[in-house]
Amino acid sequence: MTVIAIDGPSGSGKSTVARAVAKELGLAYLDTGAMYRAAALWARRAQLLDQPDKLPALVQAMPLSVPLDPCDQSVYLADEDVTALIRTPAVSGYVSKLSTVIPVRQVLVAWQRAIVEANRHPGIVLEGRDINTVVAPDADVRLLITAAEATRLRRRALDQHGQAGSAAIAATRAEISGRDREDATVAQFTEAPPGVTLIDSSDLTAEQTVAAVLELAAQVDGESPGRRAPSQAPRRQGGLS
Ligand code: DC
Repeated sequence: MTVIAIDGPSGSGKSTVARAVAKELGLAYLDTGAMYRAAALWARRAQLLDQPDKLPALVQAMPLSVPLDPCDQSVYLADEDVTALIRTPAVSGYVSKLSTVIPVRQVLVAWQRAIVEANRHPGIVLEGRDINTVVAPDADVRLLITAAEATRLRRRALDQHGQAGSAAIAATRAEISGRDREDATVAQFTEAPPGVTLIDSSDLTAEQTVAAVLELAAQVDGESPGRRAPSQAPRRQGGLS
């Protein structure tokens, strides 16, 4: 197995599933959303988030260490561990300002493609919004993971607020519905394009969704004789090269 591409909206469960699949198969794991989040934080600190023309050069030069180990997703900007910071509601609230700037996307897509090339062996699982359509359309396994809106809101509320009561659901709806709408203007992740398998995880547990992905990966692997058996992924990071 070499490249597994997973797209989906917020709360679809794609991150949990992608990480578990990478662990199980001994592959690298790239959370492209974390790159957009770190870039947005970097731009906000530079007070350039509202100057789109300045963003591509800023993002190109940001000192981001991209984690590729599914067991350790610590994100660093220079020497600072920003793992928790990039997940705060504040960053979630302004990340689309950066992720909808097309030249910024071009910088990050080039970076992501370089990471894919450097990790084809033993392989890599990537997740985001435009992996199947832009970053790695030649991936061996191509998946779109979705879930009903109520399920996505409940999962995101549990994730962000630690509970899924009506107040937490209302806060989550306010946080993510605008963002999904914004994101959908620059990436197509609501319908599966030709060649991409749709998995609706609404009625599946994370374990069942992982099992479905592993089954698809095994089918593809079986059709490709001579591929390496999975091995334990070493700890590694992806620099911009
Ligand atoms: O998956 P996430 O919520 O961590 O993503 C953070 C933001 O980055 C979100 O607004 C969508 C955007 N994103 C994107 O535009 N393209 C990607 N490949 C990944 C994320």
